[in-house]
Amino acid sequence: ASTLGAAAAESGRYFGAAVAAGRLGDSQYTTILDREFNMVTPENEMKWDSTERSRNSFSFGSADQIVNHARSHNQRLRGHTLVWHSQLPGWVSSIGDANTLRSVMNNHINQLMGHWKGQIYAWDVVNEAFADGGSGQLRSSVFRDRLGTGFIEEAFRTARAADPAAKLCYNDYNIEDWNAAKTQSVYRLVQDFKTRGVPIDCVGLQAHFGSGGPPSTFQTTLSSFAALGVDVQLTELDIAQASSNAYTNTVRACMNVARCTGITTWGVRDSDSWRSGENPLLFDRSGNKKPAYNATLTAL
Ligand code: XIL
Repeated sequence: ASTLGAAAAESGRYFGAAVAAGRLGDSQYTTILDREFNMVTPENEMKWDSTERSRNSFSFGSADQIVNHARSHNQRLRGHTLVWHSQLPGWVSSIGDANTLRSVMNNHINQLMGHWKGQIYAWDVVNEAFADGGSGQLRSSVFRDRLGTGFIEEAFRTARAADPAAKLCYNDYNIEDWNAAKTQSVYRLVQDFKTRGVPIDCVGLQAHFGSGGPPSTFQTTLSSFAALGVDVQLTELDIAQASSNAYTNTVRACMNVARCTGITTWGVRDSDSWRSGENPLLFDRSGNKKPAYNATLTAL
């Protein structure tokens, strides 16, 4: 195949990109997007600070622009993200009463999943809940601090009822190295959910890598999560300096794991990246394919 999406589709996988609504008017951007990618993740437009800036007042306009673009170009969608400590409006973080916060959280999930019901392949239900380092604890957030560690389970149960057709994912960064304590913490969470019948379908590994690319244990991590009975996806891939080798190693790890169902790069061109200074993507600032593009296409 001659495009990323078509190459991934040959093995039943997808190849996606994070998309910004503000760039949809850029024809160079949309030309690459619609030629190469068959999955779209809104980069910011579905986050809480974009969708519910004040309580129970929802704005879906910029996210809908992306959803409509994706639907009209046969691209699947990843919903990103429902419950996250970041890009969270101050009115949520300042809620002091647990019952109020619980109903606010569940309402947010119900409203977003209801608005796009049946249109989302997978939702990042909870994003980045674990603390960095080896504590094994959830990070401090209004959700953990007011609701306790059970907020994750509650969010997933609410999400399953809101759109039973969507795959429900836990998404995090620095969980690519099997030897990292944070990876083991997420593994135990998923294992516990599967054991107790809490709905979870997938784990998203963000895969924001340094110039060396993935850790040597990356494939072990993917296959270990998969063995719990969940799909895995690389949800926000970018690699400092975009070395071809690093991209090859990353893509191969996914291709070697049957339940690794797709890869998304976090942007299209280097100029679109949140790590723009590191030139971490597959297309340069002029929209040309970089060497890492060819490496990726070959590895798919
Ligand atoms: C980033 C976006 O790319 C930026 O535009 C925004 O300013 C901050 O968030 N983990 C995630 C993504 O789950 O939502 C983040 O996206 C990058 C880190």
